[in-house]
Amino acid sequence: MNVTRRQLGALVGAALLAPAVPARSASAAAPAWKLMWAPDPAAVGLRAFETLEDDRADSHPAGQPHIYVEGDAFRFNMHTVDRDTSTDRQRQEVTGTRNPDGYLRWLAGETWRVTYSMYIPSSLKATTTFTHISQTKMPGTGTSPITVTSLRRVNGVQTIEHKIFESDTLVGRTELEPLHDKWIDAEYEIKIGDGSSGSVRWVLRSGGVTLVDATRTGDTFLGDRVRPKWGIYRSLGDTSGSLLNCYLLLRNMRAYKQVQAVATRLEAESATISQGVVESNHAGFSGAGFVNTDNVAGAYVEWRHEAAAAGPATLTVRYANGTGADRPVDLAVNGRVVASGVSFPSTGAWTSWTSRSAVADLAAGANTIRLTATTAGGCPNLDYLEVLQ
Ligand code: GCU
Ligand code: CA
Repeated sequence: MNVTRRQLGALVGAALLAPAVPARSASAAAPAWKLMWAPDPAAVGLRAFETLEDDRADSHPAGQPHIYVEGDAFRFNMHTVDRDTSTDRQRQEVTGTRNPDGYLRWLAGETWRVTYSMYIPSSLKATTTFTHISQTKMPGTGTSPITVTSLRRVNGVQTIEHKIFESDTLVGRTELEPLHDKWIDAEYEIKIGDGSSGSVRWVLRSGGVTLVDATRTGDTFLGDRVRPKWGIYRSLGDTSGSLLNCYLLLRNMRAYKQVQAVATRLEAESATISQGVVESNHAGFSGAGFVNTDNVAGAYVEWRHEAAAAGPATLTVRYANGTGADRPVDLAVNGRVVASGVSFPSTGAWTSWTSRSAVADLAAGANTIRLTATTAGGCPNLDYLEVLQ
């Protein structure tokens, strides 16, 4: 397992803000994203990556290092004097996704997702020849990129685009200038396969607004495996006067692998109940009923779940709250609170059921998962817990 407790802690907070995915039937296999890589730049530095190409031609010693950690971000500097081994271009890049126990291998037949934030200063401009700021490649020399995110001038306009390289398939493109000098969010998904069994999704967001969310089919496998790259790799052939001293910042880098997870539904009426009763007077529940806890802080419902393996699980609670007030609870796994004061806001009526999800680490074998009311309102009415792992 590559995910540390610290990484999971971050995820728990984020996941709780989102409404859950629709409930699935008991013990059904379903695709889920497993967090595989979430480097903290300050903690792991450039060991977050498999290889480092910092001025590999040693063209500008005075500018080294060109790639380093700055605050919570990875920084890539490019000076106009920097030259790659092919002297018609410049390159300051990192490749791969590495954890303390080794680098991740993205293989044919797998689907991977990468999310990160990037800061493109106005000095890093789109050019008339190539400027790539991320790529996927087969490791080794002699092959073209598989996909590229590039800053390209199109009819004089600066754009940022994503392409499947070999077939020159444009996945998406948007204007770059409005995105300069601010943090923007990128999401990239690659289904690794030959020919039409491969596909790519590229999403770009700025300030919560989705500018691009496009998916294209295309060949995404050349051989061996797929490895991502980030940094600045650009041609000196630009004719628009856009090659300046510049830099690129990346932060919140995450990689997820798609897995077939199994969802197990555990009805609340079959769980251990402290200060509460099983009822069935509000329609819409699953199973034989739901748990109505006493309206008191400390009331709880505790489920037992046998996990096939240790690792992160998505915990989804279906509930109803017919009052206008929040019914916050603490979520504890195996006696340890992993999320406190989790909000269970009003659903409008006791017959309106909805779901909330969180991600938490489970142990192999027996686990307890407990929701404890933290306010005098008690818990919301609880229908079931679903464990997706
Ligand atoms: C009502 C409702 C119960 C609910 C309770 C509460 O009595 O019928 O299902 O549990 O309010 O406020 O907790
Ligand atoms: Ca109640």
